[in-house]
Amino acid sequence: MLVVNGLVKRFGGFTAVNNVSFKVDQGEILGLIGPNGSGKSTIFNMLSGTFPPTAGSIQFEGRELAGLAPHRIINSGIGRTFQIPRPFKRLSIFENAALAGYYGQGSHNRAKAEEAAGRALAMVGLPTDRNALVDGLGAAGLKKLELAKALATGPKLLLADESLGGLDESEMDQAADMLRKIRDELGITIIWVEHIMGVLMRVVDRVMVLDHGEKISEGLPSQVAGDPRVIEVYLGTDAHSTQAAAAEQRR
Ligand SMILES: Nc1ncnc2c1ncn2[C@@H]1O[C@H](COP(=O)(O)OP(=O)(O)O)[C@@H](O)[C@H]1O
Ligand SMILES: [Mg+2]
Repeated sequence: MLVVNGLVKRFGGFTAVNNVSFKVDQGEILGLIGPNGSGKSTIFNMLSGTFPPTAGSIQFEGRELAGLAPHRIINSGIGRTFQIPRPFKRLSIFENAALAGYYGQGSHNRAKAEEAAGRALAMVGLPTDRNALVDGLGAAGLKKLELAKALATGPKLLLADESLGGLDESEMDQAADMLRKIRDELGITIIWVEHIMGVLMRVVDRVMVLDHGEKISEGLPSQVAGDPRVIEVYLGTDAHSTQAAAAEQRR
């Protein structure tokens, strides 16, 4: 479904994503993990057209998308959530989702957009009544609204960015189950970006690991969890913080 080849993003002299290639099969959930700053969101920003790649190709269902504007990409069937939710606060929850449906589906059809919004909100467990306000939503609710907005655009491929940040443990489990349900019941293919490995490993079919903008590992969750390079990247940071904490205590 998606074939990414030699993707590069430079910001001035800094290389945020360095020659990353991967594929996503229709119907799978691919986990994309890596420490903070490893280039995960930058990959999503290129896949969704927020900015063009410095180099590389992005083929979705056989068509080249690299460098296209966001509205062209979303209309071709790639929806995304944002790591930091920024809903329109003066619109209701329903209106936020309907707006995403109106522009995201490319049909500019109000009835279709509202129907999609209702379905998406029901799917993620948010109120479908037209006047419920964004104001009352906590961290978990805002993440659900991000997901509902992306679903309302009618994606074939969903890019979910850090859906667990700011959630407690039971909310994390619910969010993970939600993504699986979206794949199982709606048949939507998913790339799920997360910096915490935990629950993600339970739900994804395959995992790809980034470090400093480079792909360092890829495979089944069980294979990747046992990969020495991955353990070094994840436990390495833990070891540093453990040492730092010990040094702090000695002072
Ligand atoms: N628009 C930008 N301009 C300059 N640097 C950026 C920009 N976006 C991201 N970066 C840098 O690229 C690196 C990767 O960032 P990001 O993809 O957000 O990491 P992740 O999502 O894995 O935490 C970071 O060092 C970040 O500071
Ligand atoms: Mg990120």
